[in-house]
Amino acid sequence: MESLVILISGRGSNMQSLLEARAQIDRITVISSNPDALGLETAKKYGVNTNVIDHRSYADRQTFDTALAKCIDSHQPKLVALAGFMRILSDRFVQHFQGRLVNIHPSLLPAFPGLGTHARALQEGIRIHGCTVHFVTPQLDHGPIIIQAAIPVLPWDTEETLATRVLQQEHHIYPRAVRWFMEDRIKLIENHVEVLDSSFCEITLYSPGLSE
Ligand code: GRF
Repeated sequence: MESLVILISGRGSNMQSLLEARAQIDRITVISSNPDALGLETAKKYGVNTNVIDHRSYADRQTFDTALAKCIDSHQPKLVALAGFMRILSDRFVQHFQGRLVNIHPSLLPAFPGLGTHARALQEGIRIHGCTVHFVTPQLDHGPIIIQAAIPVLPWDTEETLATRVLQQEHHIYPRAVRWFMEDRIKLIENHVEVLDSSFCEITLYSPGLSE
């Protein structure tokens, strides 16, 4: 029985991409830190088990994290996937799940950790942006990288258009990374990830292009 726990706080579109892919997973549980998360409705439509651990009901981060860890452990997951989970997790929590806790982040890490990645990307004038799936470590948005997808930043991009195109790529890469993990194809060697039986694209992305 291979089981996955997905942690959400809001819209849940990455959660949905994982629910649609579902490969190699017998049981999925969605846990939300927010009782009003839109993603909870979506999860119910997919017929998966949902739990709410409302962060507002706990006095501090430590007691919230303890309750969350207990709930996750009761499902005995092989992997825990953060999908728009908007709480900063304590070191103790992260260490408890180390090596089986992954996150999706809307930038090419280590660039732009934290919030507001698309606005900051536009402000910096970078030409190539993207998203990253990585293992979670105590340092925010800095763990070993499993997969990244890159897109060009176009001159007419706004924060919204950029977010939309990056999100499309998030929905491609997250289910793949999760499937690889469930298939035991991800090897974590110190701070580096090896993906067994993966292919590599040798095309260079230029932005702007070199045609003129
Ligand atoms: C995504 O951009 C994800 O990369 C970030 O939070 C956002 C969550 O969106 N961590 P959704 O809830 O998955 O739609």
